[in-house]
Amino acid sequence: MQDKSEATNFVPFKVSLCNEREVLVREITGDDKAGLLAAFNKLSADARYARFMAAMQQLPEAMLEQATHPSVEREFALVAIATENKVSSIVAGARYAAAPGSDTCEFAVTVDDDWHRLGLARRLLGTLIDIARSRGFRCMEGYVLSSNTGMRRLAKRFGFSDLACPDDATLRVVTLALQDSERKR
Ligand SMILES: CC(C)(COP(=O)(O)OP(=O)(O)OC[C@H]1O[C@@H](n2cnc3c(N)ncnc32)[C@H](O)[C@@H]1OP(=O)(O)O)[C@@H](O)C(=O)NCCC(=O)NCCS
Repeated sequence: MQDKSEATNFVPFKVSLCNEREVLVREITGDDKAGLLAAFNKLSADARYARFMAAMQQLPEAMLEQATHPSVEREFALVAIATENKVSSIVAGARYAAAPGSDTCEFAVTVDDDWHRLGLARRLLGTLIDIARSRGFRCMEGYVLSSNTGMRRLAKRFGFSDLACPDDATLRVVTLALQDSERKR
């Protein structure tokens, strides 16, 4: 695999969404702890369960620390920032993480409930796939609740396969080969 320390810096970009709202997409930083916590606290119980596959009432400090300090070699994380009435907030995030030495990374995407169905997850996941591919990962996978129609549909749109999880009937495993797949949208 490519040496991730040689990877080029991610250039932030603006995204115009379906309803004329706009967000800035950039890499997460250590300064995003408070913003990420606020975004988590705003999520519905259903969205938290869909993202973490557990009834999470709080985001533990250790998870917050890890989320805002991704490993350069194995992880990458994006946030989407909206500015309304001069106040900026995190309205979505997407990340991947890989086990040490693995060429497969696992993704997760979360969008604030008020920002659903505007194409934000599609832009974030597309960007994440491009980054993972450019950094030499060969495969991206995700664990998705069987009932999560939105995420499964989105994954299918990008060409992920969607198979039953052998260990858990409530989950699907979605998988995308990165090096030999054409980019889809
Ligand atoms: C799943 C989730 C990330 C989708 O985010 P989003 O920004 O609303 O998705 P988009 O607007 O980019 O939609 C992408 C596609 O999914 C479809 N979609 C999104 N939500 C949907 C839903 N609830 N039901 C059916 N289709 C849905 C859209 O129609 C679109 O399909 P199309 O491109 O064929 O028109 C969002 O609902 C979410 O954050 N859920 C909670 C956390 C979660 O489930 N994360 C996934 C686990 S990793």
